[in-house]
Amino acid sequence: SKALKDPSGNVLSKYFVPSKFSSQCITPPTPFRNSSSRKSFVPFDQGIEYRRLEAQRSILVQVQSEKSCHELYSFASQFGTVQSMHHYTLPGQTHFVIVEMKDSQVTRRILNKCGHLDKSQVIPVRSPFLWFRANKNKTKLSDESDYAKINCDTHNVFPPTEDHVRECLASCNTITQQMTTLHNITKMNDINTRLRFLVAYQVELALSGLFPLCAIFPFGSSVNNFGKLGCDLDLVLQLDLQSQGDNDQCRLMFHCKSSLGSERSQTLRHLETVGDLLQLFLPGCSQVKRILGARVPIIKYNHDMSALECDLSMTNLTALYMAELLYLFGEIDWRVRPLVFTIKKWAKDINLTNPTPGRWITNFSLTLLVLFYLQSVKVLPPLKLLIDEASLKDRRISEDGVNCTFVRDITKLQFHPSIPEQSTDSLTTLLFGFFEFYSQYDFNNQGISLYLGSPIPKPEHGALYINNPLERGLNVSKNVSFEELERLKVEVRNASWTLESTANSNNKPSHTPSESWGLLELFKKQNLSEKAKSVFFSEKSRPKERMVSVEDLFSTETSEDSQVPVE
Ligand code: GTP
Ligand code: MG
Repeated sequence: SKALKDPSGNVLSKYFVPSKFSSQCITPPTPFRNSSSRKSFVPFDQGIEYRRLEAQRSILVQVQSEKSCHELYSFASQFGTVQSMHHYTLPGQTHFVIVEMKDSQVTRRILNKCGHLDKSQVIPVRSPFLWFRANKNKTKLSDESDYAKINCDTHNVFPPTEDHVRECLASCNTITQQMTTLHNITKMNDINTRLRFLVAYQVELALSGLFPLCAIFPFGSSVNNFGKLGCDLDLVLQLDLQSQGDNDQCRLMFHCKSSLGSERSQTLRHLETVGDLLQLFLPGCSQVKRILGARVPIIKYNHDMSALECDLSMTNLTALYMAELLYLFGEIDWRVRPLVFTIKKWAKDINLTNPTPGRWITNFSLTLLVLFYLQSVKVLPPLKLLIDEASLKDRRISEDGVNCTFVRDITKLQFHPSIPEQSTDSLTTLLFGFFEFYSQYDFNNQGISLYLGSPIPKPEHGALYINNPLERGLNVSKNVSFEELERLKVEVRNASWTLESTANSNNKPSHTPSESWGLLELFKKQNLSEKAKSVFFSEKSRPKERMVSVEDLFSTETSEDSQVPVE
């Protein structure tokens, strides 16, 4: 089997398949029971490590225009082999290129050569964020054919426009096709992932003099493969990654300042200082805000050169393990991600979710609702199985004692005797099933447990109870109010009804591409007032029995549904 190697030949993993790496954050979707999945499954920590090393080999360079790329290639090639180049533009016709060198030492050599424009005018920071200035003494261009091999294409770092999405969805023939199309055109791409790890590396590099073992990890939807192009970048800072190592036994110990005060007050001071550092010294970091009163204190900032909105926190690694868990659930079955993307888009379009935190359901809770539904229809196993199958090397205990042990190599679960025969439902059936499932869910009495993969008696009085899969004393959706839960209940019924009618009227071979149908009906912004909606879609007005079965409605697409979409 092929070994996971970085471009310089260092072996990283036995699973890595380089040619497939570019399509998604860590790896393309893998069918759970496909015997070839062992080849394409990349364990999460190895994917993260690969991206971190890739960032360390890379520089981000502002250029005058696309035409400068060949010259920049020639310039960088003087130092060593250029591994890849990726061009993108931001509004205002600013052009940027990520240049990845084959070897991180070459990258360091380049950075040692860089200068500052006018030291009296700028703070002379050194970082991998550069500017390729116009020069009369142009660099001699390298061979056209060498440059062509690098294939420096222009990539999009922004999500597609709403019109483009609607156009693409209208031209699909089935709802399943619409769901996979939505996923494919809005999911995070390779350049976006590169940018996220570069932005993380910038802060890591800035702190590395004081804390040589510090690490900044992207987490949340940036790495769990449920992220859209343009979603926020969640970062977690660890000051000393190897603090739990056995160096504590060494006779020589570091002199350190004593850490005074409560852990929280210290974290706040440190975050504040990091915020100052970003604001004063780090190029590209703007609109730095310190949100220190929140349950999880964060520094919020914009990163101008990558157009990313960043949330930097300083907690433990539990959040990263949560991203890993979600990543694994997404890897187990190819249908998971298109379904999550569809539900997230639906919720956003009808304003069930909102970018600002509040009493409404978050994307994170919504994702857990989808995963729980998929457990209930046996597309996904309960978390308990992943924990039971863990071996010693899967053991992870976060600094504050949260046990995040679960099996990391999900290929071990293939053909597992305790996994029931897996459902082969089409994506459309699953989408319909999701809305049906939650239309009938007894939210008053039943909580949601991804650990068991089945409902549990609600342990506390709150509107919605979703047991935190890793910290099982906690409710992930504590923030959701009774009003917002009511809205969710109304909207899932509403959606179920809309899907039924769109399928009734449009599931004919004759529909034209311009027609609004399927997901487009579902995503329509609701113009009815809240009151009208709740009357219109109350239990009374909704037909008690479906006129036609779901399978009948979507019978035209079942044959192709059973196939895994080709990326
Ligand atoms: P996007 O909306 O695409 O950014 O999804 P996201 O999963 O990144 O959500 P968000 O940026 O709101 O949160 C980032 C991560 O923080 C999540 O993936 C979770 O791991 C964690 N998180 C967010 N909200 C909660 C919560 O209410 N409870 C817990 N335990 N973790 C949360
Ligand atoms: Mg996020």
